[in-house]
Amino acid sequence: MEKIFVFDTTLRDGEQVPGACLNPREKLEIALQLARLGVDAIEAGFPISSPGDFEAVKAIAERVKGPTIVALARAVRQDIETAWNTIKGAEKPRIHVFLPSSDIHIQKKFGTDRKKQLERGLEALEYAKSLCPEIEYSPEDASRTDLEYLAKVVEQVIAAGATVVNIPDTVGYAVPEQFGQLIAYLKREVSDIDKIVLSVHCHNDLGLATANTLAAIENGARQVECTMNGLGERAGNASLEEIVMAIKTRKDYFRFFTTVNTREIMKTSKLVSRLMGMPVQANKAIVGSNAFSHSSGIHQDGILKDRATYEAIRPEDVGISEHAMVLTARSGRHALRQKISEIGYDLPEQELEAVYSQFLSVADKKKRVYDEDLAVIVQDAIFAHLDHSKLYGLESYKLTTGNGEVPEARVRLRREEVILEATAQGDGPIDAIFKAIDKVAGVYHKLEDFQVKAVTETKEAMGIATVRVSREGFRAVGRGSSTDILKASAKAYVQAINRLDWLLQRSSEADPVEHSA
Ligand code: KIV
Ligand code: ZN
Repeated sequence: MEKIFVFDTTLRDGEQVPGACLNPREKLEIALQLARLGVDAIEAGFPISSPGDFEAVKAIAERVKGPTIVALARAVRQDIETAWNTIKGAEKPRIHVFLPSSDIHIQKKFGTDRKKQLERGLEALEYAKSLCPEIEYSPEDASRTDLEYLAKVVEQVIAAGATVVNIPDTVGYAVPEQFGQLIAYLKREVSDIDKIVLSVHCHNDLGLATANTLAAIENGARQVECTMNGLGERAGNASLEEIVMAIKTRKDYFRFFTTVNTREIMKTSKLVSRLMGMPVQANKAIVGSNAFSHSSGIHQDGILKDRATYEAIRPEDVGISEHAMVLTARSGRHALRQKISEIGYDLPEQELEAVYSQFLSVADKKKRVYDEDLAVIVQDAIFAHLDHSKLYGLESYKLTTGNGEVPEARVRLRREEVILEATAQGDGPIDAIFKAIDKVAGVYHKLEDFQVKAVTETKEAMGIATVRVSREGFRAVGRGSSTDILKASAKAYVQAINRLDWLLQRSSEADPVEHSA
């Protein structure tokens, strides 16, 4: 059996999802969990794109041990130098240079020809190689590139020192059999192809990213680029959990293995979903909340007789344990710390204290604190810790409403130790609260999405509100939790506008840069 290398790009391609911007602390948190998951490489970001990404990639390179840490760069000297400056402290650094190879990209985006484009790529690669021994090269939009030209590019980048060559299906255009043949063609035609690791990077525009990736490994690719929960631009990237579990579950067919610790999959999925504010659809393969639930009587009967009747994948293999530890008001700090680590967080002692006291106040109101409740508490504590004095914090709100009356909200926010108040009327209580918050902030936000749900199915459940707002072309997500849903909504809105301020500030510090797919 041959090993397939798992290259995770959740923190780079995955983070390009609109509104899913992570701060450096959150990125580090996810990278530490990806290391526990056992991926071979973490693409930590695109350092030239912003000072925040630079800081995050550098912190990951310094702190995360085990996987190769990869930084993305265009075929531009300054990008490459910046990428190197972030990862040179890593145990195993790798620079990932990308440059389009399809005619449409070469002509429309670069206004040049194939020959000059290849020269540009080789020059960039040589420079990258002078800094870092391990270089990955991606001919962007490879699946729509003329085959002979693609083979020539691959051959020449290998000769120039690339150690990994990645074949991206940038626009999710490929279909499995044809994509497999493309990989087989490169394996056959390109000299020295066996000296490098051949990689694939598939997007999911036609819902074929996992199938294309699997077809590629059957035909000679040995690195798969993927993201947790399949997150990524547009329809997303190939999903890590699907590829890894397909290889494991069907080892009789694929005859490959990965060194991913699959029992960490669920924890990683939940962490990514929460920090990015991107809920996982219930029927998502492997990590959806329904992926292992059986509702029809016939299935339940079969499962009770023998789980294998309707379960091709064992839930415990992806980290769903049937005997989860139950947290109650009587649980101590030790149990809490253990549970926090199980759900994928690594908190310093002073934050643990804050989480503990918040946990106790929730546990007092509820018989049982579920993992989902705890995750919300932990996440609030992390954001509170980031809380520079310039962020808004919700002090209180008061609502006046009644039959036939227009709801009116009075909201008090704190910022830089100053209490700011405003009153506003709205179409409903939540609208009035959001308008009053906007009044305090002195700026109007467009509400793009608003959802409230109970995180567990009991009467005294915590409500979690998710709010998506936009301003000046930027979008941010905020989440808030409370057993009072109006308060949860207000907290979510305040967090969203804080994040939006942070994003706008970050973008004004950043160089303008084109984000690739
Ligand atoms: O989709 C793509 O082509 C990319 C490259 C940067 C590898 O993300
Ligand atoms: Zn991509």
